[in-house]
Amino acid sequence: MMNNAMNIKDILEWYLLAGVDEICGDEPLSVEINKTKSMPEVNVQSNRPVISSLAQNTNGAYKNATDICDKVNSLADLLTEMEKFDGCALKHTASKIVFGDGNPNAKLLLIGEAPGADEDRVGKPFVGRSGQLLDKMMAAIGYDREQFYICNIIPWRPPGNRTPLDSEVAVCLPFLKKQIDLVDPDFIFILGGSAANSLLNMGETISKMRGHWYDYKKSNGKTAKVLASFHPAYLLRSAGQKAKAWADILRLKKAMDNENSAENH
Ligand code: URA
Repeated sequence: MMNNAMNIKDILEWYLLAGVDEICGDEPLSVEINKTKSMPEVNVQSNRPVISSLAQNTNGAYKNATDICDKVNSLADLLTEMEKFDGCALKHTASKIVFGDGNPNAKLLLIGEAPGADEDRVGKPFVGRSGQLLDKMMAAIGYDREQFYICNIIPWRPPGNRTPLDSEVAVCLPFLKKQIDLVDPDFIFILGGSAANSLLNMGETISKMRGHWYDYKKSNGKTAKVLASFHPAYLLRSAGQKAKAWADILRLKKAMDNENSAENH
């Protein structure tokens, strides 16, 4: 009996380490693997996927994602296609897709990293504690979700909220870029270093990137002005950085106000 109890504890700890930290149903979910698709080759000694075949699979999924994006013309169609898309393994561990939310005609687009547990449950971005802090900060400059659109680099929750892998970012990036093109914002505000590097590919820390403007070229040839700042989840842990994040939000508001008044003259 004692042994069994210890085994169960060990098993639970093993699951936790693997990032399985929640039960979302009574029945186990079996993932159907499409046998016609090539699975990554495995190195028998290390039991790890051989990199070249992993890269090939990522390439195939990336191409597939790009092809999908080339043929859709609305956010609704993009969501439908992404729900059918099978090229990102995170889909199988997440409970649902977390697509963008807010005003699809907004001039401001906010981008986070990936959904957490609350977002995975609800199906909307930034609805948990960090989302509540973000909403308060945006409300302080007079912006609610009717005035901006918000999405993530990755639309499926990584197990245990781990940082998305480069291969997952690579596969999901065409979907994010398509959302940017369809919303066509003038301003993009990126939350956190991981999301900022995924889009801007600067290889810099968020402390270095924040406070500076960058350009993002949309597929219509126009440029969106990009500002990055600390992720609200980080601000919840490091309240001392809130002043810098607030300075970034004021910088964003000033630039948006300037653009509005230039348009009205
Ligand atoms: N953190 C993110 O980056 N995105 C969310 O949607 C929630 C938390």
